[in-house]
Amino acid sequence: MFITLEGPDGSGKTQQIRLLSTFLESRGYKVFSSREPGGTPIGDKIRDVIMDMRNTSMHPRTETLLFCASRAQIVEEVIKPKLQEGYIVILDRYADSTMAYQGYGHQNNLNTIRQLLDFATGGLRPDLTLLLDLDPEVGLNRRKKGGGEWNRLDAYQLELHKRVRAGYLEMAAQEPDRWRIISADQSIEVVQSIIQKIIVDLLE
Ligand code: TYD
Repeated sequence: MFITLEGPDGSGKTQQIRLLSTFLESRGYKVFSSREPGGTPIGDKIRDVIMDMRNTSMHPRTETLLFCASRAQIVEEVIKPKLQEGYIVILDRYADSTMAYQGYGHQNNLNTIRQLLDFATGGLRPDLTLLLDLDPEVGLNRRKKGGGEWNRLDAYQLELHKRVRAGYLEMAAQEPDRWRIISADQSIEVVQSIIQKIIVDLLE
């Protein structure tokens, strides 16, 4: 079974994956988890290029292709072999992140991105995708309260993150069998218990 977690920065995906892995292992399942971009030696190098603050001149298309390149590598080097060995594979972000951020967020042509993703993943799709949904204003309000000035970039980012969220919700609506939407505006324990119930129902 191939499970992915999606959602905005700070929605708690990483922590939820850690808890979920421990839970599934305690039930006797073999679990493998990783994150994107990265997850392989080549992918980690690509991640460094994407994240490097000095790469201010990176074109959005370059960025999109780098996310796809990192993904092509993790699919072949890690995900497919682990699935064949019978592991439950849990990934922190996958192709839907590129649709949400580079497609809906940065408003690139959605069909083009879809084709790129098909090429990069070799058509490998998750069996289940959990969307940790959070109002971007909740996140940005926390930032405002933390002091700091509200600048043009914050406003731009809010618009971008609103489009990302709407994109995620649209994708979830288009493929309801694969997606489950969980509000991330709840305690870690509550979110985790919802996730566990969804997965146990599917597995057992
Ligand atoms: P990361 O530090 O891994 O954050 P998070 O814990 O939220 O996953 O940074 C990943 C960032 O890259 C995040 O802002 C989303 C973005 N991203 C894309 O824009 N496209 C993609 O395809 C992926 C995988 C991530």
